[in-house]
Amino acid sequence: MSSLAETFAGSHRASGSHDGPLLEVDHVVVQFGGVTAVNEACFTADPGTVTGLIGPNGAGKTTCFNVISGLQKPTRGTVRFQGKDVSSTPVHRRSKRGMGRTFQRLEAFGSLSVRDNVKVAADIHRGVLKGFLPGGHGKNIDALLERVGIAAYADERADSIPTGTARLLELARCLAGDPKLLLLDEPSSGLDETETDAFGDLLRDLAAEGRAILMVEHDMDLVMAVCDVIHVLDFGSIIASGDPATIRRDPAVQKAYLGYSDEDDADAHTVTDLPAVSDDTMVIPAAREGVGS
Ligand SMILES: Nc1ncnc2c1ncn2[C@@H]1O[C@H](COP(=O)(O)OP(=O)(O)OP(=O)(O)O)[C@@H](O)[C@H]1O
Ligand SMILES: [Mg+2]
Repeated sequence: MSSLAETFAGSHRASGSHDGPLLEVDHVVVQFGGVTAVNEACFTADPGTVTGLIGPNGAGKTTCFNVISGLQKPTRGTVRFQGKDVSSTPVHRRSKRGMGRTFQRLEAFGSLSVRDNVKVAADIHRGVLKGFLPGGHGKNIDALLERVGIAAYADERADSIPTGTARLLELARCLAGDPKLLLLDEPSSGLDETETDAFGDLLRDLAAEGRAILMVEHDMDLVMAVCDVIHVLDFGSIIASGDPATIRRDPAVQKAYLGYSDEDDADAHTVTDLPAVSDDTMVIPAAREGVGS
């Protein structure tokens, strides 16, 4: 065992066992004034599984994450974690129970080194980890940096590293808490192609350890390669759910992603009109006009 994550490898399958999914989002609605950001969303995330949450800019993906992690109270609906209703549970308690999250906007401490950023995150979770980390704390942190592929930056200040590396630092900070559920909001943005491939492998490894991964991501190559299940949000509603092949073929998804404004336009196009980079790839169009991120 060479990292915090590996220290606990396999422990998640047995822990918190209950009937039903690890995470359950049940008819969640979020309204901001007149805007319905999330509309009756229902989906789950399970141990050993990578679940994708995709959709155009402003579709409500980050708002769903905010509801799951506790930063946003739903207008209606329920979030269950390990079978328990956590809809009113504060963020830190959800985190203690095993939810880890990375943010679309980077959250690291800029003046601290990469290593110290992970150390701080591990220290915050020490109440959970101290029994397992008597003397090997520093070593475990370096092993974790190695595992996510940023060991070369360990002594750099966090505000001096490239964006892609900073995203991996976010992941390392999140893993330092040994989460059962990882919520990753656009984790690959800023990574180059090689880094993205390695990142996809790491996600599969983390899932194989028994963690549940829920990922918001715009890189469709990555989504199609690593997700077991994908849910597509459009204007707050889930318009399709299924495995990558099913999602790629779904006409409602194609319509949402191509941004047609009326049925006639949509009918004029066929599946083969979907902009394809490769057989397995969809391209996300530019942000819809008037829809914020
Ligand atoms: N705090 C807020 N107050 C008011 N409106 C908000 C708030 N947060 C989000 N919204 C609106 O809710 C909708 C969903 O936003 P959200 O950030 O969840 O979308 P997203 O799918 O994450 O988009 P992106 O892909 O651009 O990150 C948008 O119309 C957004 O402007
Ligand atoms: Mg977002």
